[in-house]
Amino acid sequence: MVYNFSSFVLVFLLFGASSYAIPVGEVNDICRQSKNFSFCFTLLNSNPSTNLVTLTQRTINVARVNVTNTIKLIKLLISQSAGDPNAKNHYTSCLVHFNYNEGALGKVDYAQEMLKNKDYQGMGVAATAIVTYVEDCISGESPSDPPYPDHSMLPKYAYVVELVAEIIVFISKYLGH
Ligand SMILES: *[C@@H]1O[C@H](CO)[C@@H](O)[C@H](O)[C@H]1NC(C)=O
Ligand SMILES: *[C@@H]1O[C@H](CO)[C@@H](O)[C@H](O)[C@H]1NC(C)=O
Repeated sequence: MVYNFSSFVLVFLLFGASSYAIPVGEVNDICRQSKNFSFCFTLLNSNPSTNLVTLTQRTINVARVNVTNTIKLIKLLISQSAGDPNAKNHYTSCLVHFNYNEGALGKVDYAQEMLKNKDYQGMGVAATAIVTYVEDCISGESPSDPPYPDHSMLPKYAYVVELVAEIIVFISKYLGH
């Protein structure tokens, strides 16, 4: 099934975001850009009859759950790394990147606010910041230092957060037109 983009925009304008049920063709277009197509496709099809704004809201909710779970994991890892300064530094830095004030959790709230205001570009910027924070945690902030060899579950959790945030970025481009 092939939908071209301009007809999508036309239909979108005619029927409005709130009444528009997202067709499979558009889910394919959004997820084709993802590092992990099947993850994206499964997430966006968990309720296929929904409209794009509702779908975005759900995706932001998933991001919030995933970021919150990641913060819990990081706090546990910090408590377990008392005798290992390198591990402790790594996890402490990751906590900053995931926390509310200067990290991913604050940006999830900001993306939420932007969605409410129908500022889809602003929502995309907030979601892009989440991706950057996740990468700063995993790869480290300094390109000259090798990434911390993290054998905990954190890289897996972080990967999921990154995938979900990326999906919000891709959707923001659709909503922004
Ligand atoms: C896609 O993401 C899922 C969930 O994190 C993971 O289990 C799977 O291995 C990933 N697939 C690829 C191709 O990276
Ligand atoms: C991410 O959120 C989804 C949906 O709420 C949940 O099923 C999944 O277990 C979460 N994964 C992590 C790593 O928190």
